[in-house]
Parts: sequence; structure tokens; C-alpha cells
Amino acid sequence: MKKIKEILNKKNKTKIICLTAYSKNVAEVIDEFTDLILVGDSLGSALYDYNTTRKVTLDMMIEHGKSVRKGVLKSLLVIDMPFNTYRTKKEAYKNCKRVIKETRCDAIKLEGGIKIVSIIKYLVNKKIPIMGHLGILPQSVKGKFKFKGKKLSERTLMIKEAKAIEKAGVFSYVLEGVEKSLAKIITKKSSVPTIGIGASVNCDGQILVTDDLLGLTKSKIKFVKEFSDIRKSIKDGVKKYRHAVLNKKFPNKKHSY
Ligand code: KIV
Repeated sequence: MKKIKEILNKKNKTKIICLTAYSKNVAEVIDEFTDLILVGDSLGSALYDYNTTRKVTLDMMIEHGKSVRKGVLKSLLVIDMPFNTYRTKKEAYKNCKRVIKETRCDAIKLEGGIKIVSIIKYLVNKKIPIMGHLGILPQSVKGKFKFKGKKLSERTLMIKEAKAIEKAGVFSYVLEGVEKSLAKIITKKSSVPTIGIGASVNCDGQILVTDDLLGLTKSKIKFVKEFSDIRKSIKDGVKKYRHAVLNKKFPNKKHSY
């Protein structure tokens, strides 16, 4: 609860820094710089090369969640519920409880608006901290992702959905692929922090898939920026290793028994 309060307190004061992690090693490195770490079901595409996040299972989220937990000390740890694991209140509660028990995460993220309001409300009443997710909903999209907020009907609906999930008790929500003036309106109206991905600078915080920002995935998505070229670092290290082995420089005395 303390970590959630810290996130809430940042609204209108300072940007909230969020990233994804799927393993202990990455979590350990990024934790120092983040406020929130998400084990996103984006791991389906980023790690497993699935063409949809719908193939991600609860067991996969739990195993990655357990690994990430070991690397997170200070950030709020949030885990995504994958597709078809929160269709009813009973199903959602049972699965969320299992995720929290097995991973010791701090909160759960659910994708959706008005359709899942009663489920959010139910879980929040059961003391499960919930983060929402509006805009592009990868679990619901078949085919290409299109940003939201061009049409007036889309804008009106998203403002309504934001209000509805906020009222249901989310402590924050992701806005994915949302037109910048709409992100601004929603963020201004919201009493809880909005976290953008492809939703402009107008949100209270920002999230990216870490593998994308490091240049590991070679993502072509417009809202992704590569801040690093980790492929180059890997290649440099592996080249040096190959050279040392070929030239019998490794293993040397120091690395032998
Ligand atoms: O699955 C994920 O990583 C996400 C973020 C991109 C917000 O939902």
C-alpha cells in the first residue's frame, strides 16, 4: 500500500517512470530507475514471438513474475492478467489471488473499460490493488493495432470508460495508443495517475517495453524509441569470447581448476 501511495502522490508533481521486465536480471538492473515494474503479457510477442498476447497463459505470467520478484526491491511490482483469466468475478478473484500468492506482486493489471468494471470493483473490494488499461487493448485486437481518439465517438467512450474504471477503484491506468489531446483531457479529469504508452507527454507517467527501448526487439512501432543498442553490446561480447576460445586464450589459468 505504501508503494501505491507513493505512485499516487506523484500525480501533478513528477513523472512516473514505468518499464516492463520479464526476468530477475533485467528487473535488478532497472529497479533503481523505475517507480513501477510491469510483468506485461507483452512477453508473448517480445520473448516468445507469438503473433498475439492471447496465447500467453497464467502459468507463464506466474513463472516470469516469480523471477522478476527476485530482482525488484523498490519499485511497485504489477503483473498483467492474461487473456481469458478474468471473465467472471469468481474466475478473476481465484486467478488474481493465485498470482499474488505465488509471485508476491504488489498489484494486478487488467485490460478493458466498461465491460470489466464490475470485475474491477469486485477485486478492489476484496483488497486486490488493480491497475487499469484503456486505449489499444492487445488482448481484444485481431490484426493491426490502431491508435484511439480520432473519432468523436471513440473520444466520448474513452472519457466515459476512464471515469468508470476510476470509480470502480483502479489506483492508476495505462493509456495505450491514445491521441495526445484526448490523453490530456483524460489525465486532467482523472484523480489517479495515467501511464502512457503511445499516448504523448500528456500523461502522468510513461511505460515502454524494456526490450524495445534497449533495441533488443527491433520494434517498428511508432511510439517506440530505442535508447540503447543492446544487440551491439551482445555482439561485441560474443565476438570477444569467440576470438578468445579460437585462440586458446580462454579458459586460461585463472578460469581453470
Ligand atoms: O503487456 C504490456 O507490456 C503492457 C504495457 C505495454 C503497458 O501492457
